[in-house]
Amino acid sequence: MVNLTELALAHWDDSCSAAQQSAALQALEDGHVLLLPRLNFDVQQETSLLGEMNAMAGKAKSISWDATRGVRGHGASHDATLLAAMMERYATQTRTLLSNLLPTYASQLQQGKTSFRPVEIAGRSLSWRKDDTRLHVDSFPSSPTHGRRILRVFSNINQHGAPRVWKLGAPFTQVAQHFLPTTPKPSAAAAALLRWMKVTKTLRTPYDHYMLQLHDRMKADLAYQAHAEQYTHEFAPGQTWMVYTDLVSHAALRGQHAMEQTWLLPVAAMANPAKSPLAILENQLGRRLV
Ligand code: SIN
Ligand code: FE
Repeated sequence: MVNLTELALAHWDDSCSAAQQSAALQALEDGHVLLLPRLNFDVQQETSLLGEMNAMAGKAKSISWDATRGVRGHGASHDATLLAAMMERYATQTRTLLSNLLPTYASQLQQGKTSFRPVEIAGRSLSWRKDDTRLHVDSFPSSPTHGRRILRVFSNINQHGAPRVWKLGAPFTQVAQHFLPTTPKPSAAAAALLRWMKVTKTLRTPYDHYMLQLHDRMKADLAYQAHAEQYTHEFAPGQTWMVYTDLVSHAALRGQHAMEQTWLLPVAAMANPAKSPLAILENQLGRRLV
C-alpha cells in the first residue's frame, strides 16, 4: 500500500486549519507522500517554454535555479529570463504553502534549489547513479547536508495529460537494515581529501557518507530493485505533492514537465527527531554520525 496522505488545498496561499497542519506534519515525518491533488502550479505564461523544451530530450535531466546563481543547465537557445521567473515563482509559492501548512518548520527551512524537469523520464539514458527510475533515497554527492532533512515539493505541469509515475519503496529502517551490514565505514582522511579537492562543498560527514552509500547501493543492486517492496503511483497533471526524499524510497518512471523545490530542515526542528534518517542510522550503527 502506498503511504499517501491527501489534503484538499486549492491555492498556494490557503490558510490551513490546525488539524490540517498536524496531519501534514505527522504524515511527512512518518514517511508519507503528502498529496495536494487540487493544488496546481499555473504555467500559462510559460507554455511556450514547455513546448520548446521538448527539443531538449536526452540533455540535462533538470534545469536548476537559485537566487544567487540564477538559472543553470538550460541551453543557450532558451529564454533564461522566462525560466528564472517561473522558477522564482515556484520557490515563492512553495514557501508560502509551507509557512501556512507547517508553521513549526517555517522559520527553520533553508531554501535549496528550484528545478524544472523538461525531459521525458522514460527511455532517457543515464548512468546507473543518475538513473532515478531506480528506487533510492536522496543524497547530494557534492553538497553534504550534515544531517539536515531534504523536504521536496513537486508539481506535475504537463500540458498533455501525462501523469508523473513514481514508485515508492520500503521504509527507511528496512533499507538501512538491508544495506548497512555490508557498507564500508567512513574515513575521515577520505572526507578531508574530497573537501580539499573541492569534490564536496563542505566536509562529507559520516552521516553524508552513509546516505550516499545507501543511495548508490540501492541503485546499483538490480536484485534489490526487482524484489524490494514497491508500489506504483501516478501523479496527475495539476497536482502537487511533497515528501522527505531522504527518508522515503522513491523512483520516477515516466512523465515530462515537472517543477521541484528543495527545502532543508535541521533535525531539531522536527516534531519528532527520532524519525529522521540521522537518528535511525545512529541507532542502527550505535554511534554518532555528525
Ligand atoms: C527523484 O527525485 O528521484 C526524481 C523525481 C521526479 O523527477 O519526479
Ligand atoms: Fe530522488
